[in-house]
Amino acid sequence: TLLYGVIGDPVRHSKSPIMLNEAFRVTRINGAYAAFHVVPGSLEQAIAGVRGLGFRGLNVTIPHKIEVMRYLDEVSEGARAAGAVNTIVNDNGRLIGYNTDGIGYVRSLKEEVEPELAGKTIVVLGAGGAARGILWALAQENPARILVANRTEAKAAELAASFPPELRISAASWSSLRDVCSSADVVVNTTSVGMFPNVDETPIDPEWLKPGSVASDLIYNPLKTAFLQEAEKRGCRIHGGLGMFIYQGAYAFEYWTGQAAPVDEMREAVLESLG
Ligand code: ATR
Repeated sequence: TLLYGVIGDPVRHSKSPIMLNEAFRVTRINGAYAAFHVVPGSLEQAIAGVRGLGFRGLNVTIPHKIEVMRYLDEVSEGARAAGAVNTIVNDNGRLIGYNTDGIGYVRSLKEEVEPELAGKTIVVLGAGGAARGILWALAQENPARILVANRTEAKAAELAASFPPELRISAASWSSLRDVCSSADVVVNTTSVGMFPNVDETPIDPEWLKPGSVASDLIYNPLKTAFLQEAEKRGCRIHGGLGMFIYQGAYAFEYWTGQAAPVDEMREAVLESLG
């Protein structure tokens, strides 16, 4: 049996075991995937355990995505740009860190609502870890520009400035969002606004969105945030956060096994477990 798992704190509510074990079942790979509760002080030992037990792969979730990088043999360019590792591949004893969150988000956005991001204007709301995680992957699609806006504006400026200028990522002021959003092709919420239990809140006034543009939210609890509900009423195409979770897992599966992930079955399994 090939061993896989996810480490986090907390990790009990992770849907990754259900999703990845379904992927192994469908593809008839003899793999087993479990959730491991690892507190911050035990991270180094946990990674030593991965080596010692010969785990083939590991997902890493909060709060270890940044700290874990120091215990790996190699970190991919995308993971370095995202500042975080969520997937480890054990390549014959060499532990290589990847970030599949950002590319998983972009694959979901392209497959579910907007296949063409080249030349588009993308607005990212929020400048925390979640925003950082998707910016590099979005920039790989060659959009016209990416504008980052944050309530605490200095954080948006700092985040935008941390990427090379050729990626065309710049900061926009929070107060300019009305204008900025009215001419954007894609507006992505990466803030925590609208997350359970504050399900009635929206990060911006949805009236500012251009009809026909894409409204996207990284939040998947609830599956359709107030931001997306209002955007849909305005005639926007909407994209929820569940796809990012599914596709980050799909990429992890593909990196580990070299096989295409059974995305539809993985999504079904997760949706069923959400009730
Ligand atoms: P994550 O890793 O999920 O991005 P984070 O680093 O805590 O979490 O970032 C949370 C983001 O949500 C930040 O951009 C935060 O804005 P500030 O930097 O100004 O705090 C944003 N956020 C949280 N509550 C918000 C609110 N009520 N209105 C606007 N932005 C909010």
